[in-house]
Amino acid sequence: HFDTVSLAPADPILSLTEAFKADPNPDKINLSVGVFVDQSGVTPILDTVKEAEKRMLESSTSKSYLPMTGTPAYASLTQKLCFGEELAAQLQGRVASLQTPGGTGALRVAADFIAKNLETKTVWVSNPTWANHKGIFAAPGLKVETYNYFNSATLSLDYCGFLESLEAIPAGDVVVLHGCCHNPTGADLTLEQWEDVARIAASKKWIPLIDFAYQGFGDGIEEDAAAARIVAKAGLPAFVCQSFSKNLGLYQDRVGALHVVTDDASNYANVVSQLKISVRVNYSNPPAHGGAIVTTILSDEKLTEQWHAELAAMRERIASVRTQFVDALKAAGVERDFSFLTQQKGMFSFTGLNKEQAVALREKHSVYIVDSGRINVAGITDDNIDRVVAAIKAVL
Ligand code: LMR
Repeated sequence: HFDTVSLAPADPILSLTEAFKADPNPDKINLSVGVFVDQSGVTPILDTVKEAEKRMLESSTSKSYLPMTGTPAYASLTQKLCFGEELAAQLQGRVASLQTPGGTGALRVAADFIAKNLETKTVWVSNPTWANHKGIFAAPGLKVETYNYFNSATLSLDYCGFLESLEAIPAGDVVVLHGCCHNPTGADLTLEQWEDVARIAASKKWIPLIDFAYQGFGDGIEEDAAAARIVAKAGLPAFVCQSFSKNLGLYQDRVGALHVVTDDASNYANVVSQLKISVRVNYSNPPAHGGAIVTTILSDEKLTEQWHAELAAMRERIASVRTQFVDALKAAGVERDFSFLTQQKGMFSFTGLNKEQAVALREKHSVYIVDSGRINVAGITDDNIDRVVAAIKAVL
């Protein structure tokens, strides 16, 4: 009965971790998937999260279902984190927020909602973008187009090309933008550039969808929220897909949020009703544990402060690895200029290495990077940096 099933291509990111796990080389290094590791090579559970879980263990009384949208407390706290207190208050009655299984869950609920309820059937993503975006939006039948974003010759933002693309996007279409720490390139927009984007969205009448998976990994929690806030402040309809995988290290708990900002409060009830349908047919209601951790932390001033400090330490480690890495490449006599790495933000950078070189890194040196040349900078440690540099030198 399964003769009709053909072999699917492997996931370009997650299959590399499978291959990494199967690699018997004790010196193997995984710089593929976006997971933070500390100086000792471990992906830690944050102390703040441990403390929240301790409290939850003592105070929780039931494992009954959550509402389809998650709890009101979670919605309100994540809105404030995303939009800031003041703007979140202004958006009341216009923004529909739900807890989702990770940022991916938020994107998928948004995709279903768009496909079923909006006139447009086209979503635009940056070239390049996170390898899973196309699959998520294509799944409910949307057409996925790309806009200019990155100049692969200079390995930096192609701002002119980007604006040209944005100007040409038809009214009503949805445009996926990376709120901060662009995945995979690490090339972000400045505040002024975000203002331009919001102006174009308003005049061309397309709908921004901000994929916001790295709040706090770029310049800081407030700073990184600029894109979502500029767009919402401009009164535009928008989607924001939030994730707590990275900034709270809750990868396996699958916790995120979808905020749908309507430009007219009279649409709010209808929007919520349709979002619930999308949730119900996909996973019925969200898993509770991760959401409870987020709620426990964000509703307690002390825990929130402790989280900010732990997040700052992760952000600072990545920034210092970027500098160390560039210095180490130079010191090893690598001629190619990698100084652009220090300008990029977040976990990822496009190294400019090609597919052949990525494959050689994997097969000859057991260094795993995505075929596009993307590396997870956060995977580099004092212990492995020399081996990473030597391997890159060899494949160049
Ligand atoms: C990544 O891009 O590596 C992360 O967002 C993890 C994932 O699910 O791909």
